[in-house]
Amino acid sequence: MSTTTTLISEADIQARIRSLAGEIERDYPPTEGVHLVAVLKGGFMFMADLVRAMSERVTMDFMAVSSYGKGTTSSGQVRVLKDLDSNVEGRHVILVEDIVDTGLTLHYLQDLLKARAPRTLKTACLLSKPSRRKVDVQVDYIGFTIDDHFVVGYGLDYAEKFRNLPYIAILRQ
Ligand code: IMP
Ligand code: MG
Repeated sequence: MSTTTTLISEADIQARIRSLAGEIERDYPPTEGVHLVAVLKGGFMFMADLVRAMSERVTMDFMAVSSYGKGTTSSGQVRVLKDLDSNVEGRHVILVEDIVDTGLTLHYLQDLLKARAPRTLKTACLLSKPSRRKVDVQVDYIGFTIDDHFVVGYGLDYAEKFRNLPYIAILRQ
């Protein structure tokens, strides 16, 4: 059986996302579009709240990757399950991820998108677990830095469960 303990409340997540959205808006010239690319499935909820806190210049797309099986440790293997519908060449792109853990997934995705010649490429992650990093990866916008816990909720799953929680919780088994 698994139980969860709240780590970051819904109110704290929402407040932090509003502030990140403000920061992002200020970082790009107001007349230029910003194209957000969410990494499915984990990034869907963060993306949904982030874009609702941004202005009309935002456009979005989705990629699906698989980096973990059903367990809680990284295999280091990244597979693209769904690629972008849009061409990112010459655009301001922000990669939107749920969490940066070892950094392997983001490192792979950043290389993949860079090769498509966006005008700029930045990365936004709701969560970061710096103590687990295996590769040095640049994350421009971080919601919260957390200790080494396996967390679920707000898009993050354990064996596809708990993604719907509106808060972040620690999974105890
Ligand atoms: P990385 O490649 O090790 O940085 O892992 C990135 C992916 O692993 C994330 O996009 C998540 O899908 C998953 N992941 C990493 N840590 C957690 C966690 O604590 N809970 C749920 N999923 C996680
Ligand atoms: Mg993920």
